[in-house]
Amino acid sequence: MEVRIYPTADAAAQGAADAVAVLVAAKPEAVLGFATGTSPMPLYRELARRVAAGLDLSRVRGFALDEYVNLSPEHPGSYHSVISREVTEPLGMRPGSVTVPDGTAVDLELACEHFERLIARAGGIDLQILGIGTDGHIGFNEPTSSLASRTRIKTLMPSTRADNARFFASIDDVPIHCVTQGLGTILEARRVLMLASEESKAAAIAAAVEGPVSSFCPASALQMHPHVVLFLAAAAASKLQQIDYYRYVQEHKDGWRVPRDGPARQDWEIVKR
Ligand code: GLP
Repeated sequence: MEVRIYPTADAAAQGAADAVAVLVAAKPEAVLGFATGTSPMPLYRELARRVAAGLDLSRVRGFALDEYVNLSPEHPGSYHSVISREVTEPLGMRPGSVTVPDGTAVDLELACEHFERLIARAGGIDLQILGIGTDGHIGFNEPTSSLASRTRIKTLMPSTRADNARFFASIDDVPIHCVTQGLGTILEARRVLMLASEESKAAAIAAAVEGPVSSFCPASALQMHPHVVLFLAAAAASKLQQIDYYRYVQEHKDGWRVPRDGPARQDWEIVKR
């Protein structure tokens, strides 16, 4: 896992936006995975600014990570609403170009299988954008989620419901169940970037990067993925034991390159298959 540390959330978002821009320049119809929550918002805002300045994301398609069960898609706290409000509209993407899991389907298990098939039919996810929960969850894969899990129904931890109560009138309104891409689903994305900015995420980040691979910290499963970059504000990096080493790596990132003829292949450039 590559750890990049920035002074602020906005600076981290700039780094992450560069990654998205490089990918989309190489593959305009890239398939992105979109997280909700507060952490990726500076990235979406920065992408919206770049779209206003000429970046074209109109051919990008996407998938959301998760959705609450039995919450109307029209509810402002539903991830259907969040994705249209924060992603599809401000980024100039086609309406409906981001598929969100269906939490109101009559047959939820079938809907989860269907969602997996839609990702496969789109050719898989080129770049998955992630936040992280204070308990180490990614998507809504709570601690003890199978490392091989697929899109399925999960029961939210009381702590996650409390964390997300700010998007609802009261904690009692936060649904208890959700559908979420599994850890196995997320690990199949070709590239993964994670954003975290707050001090409250520092312990989860340390466990994800430096702890053992364990379903007890679901984000630690990313240690098994070959292309993960964390874009962290300093506060979220504050509990990493090897922080000096990560800064040193970041500083010397391209130091091994020797000038060669032709353009160097850039980070995040995904060669079309
Ligand atoms: C939410 C979402 C996750 C998100 C995480 C952290 O519940 N399901 O996708 O990454 O929890 O959210 P936030 O960034 O608001 O702290």
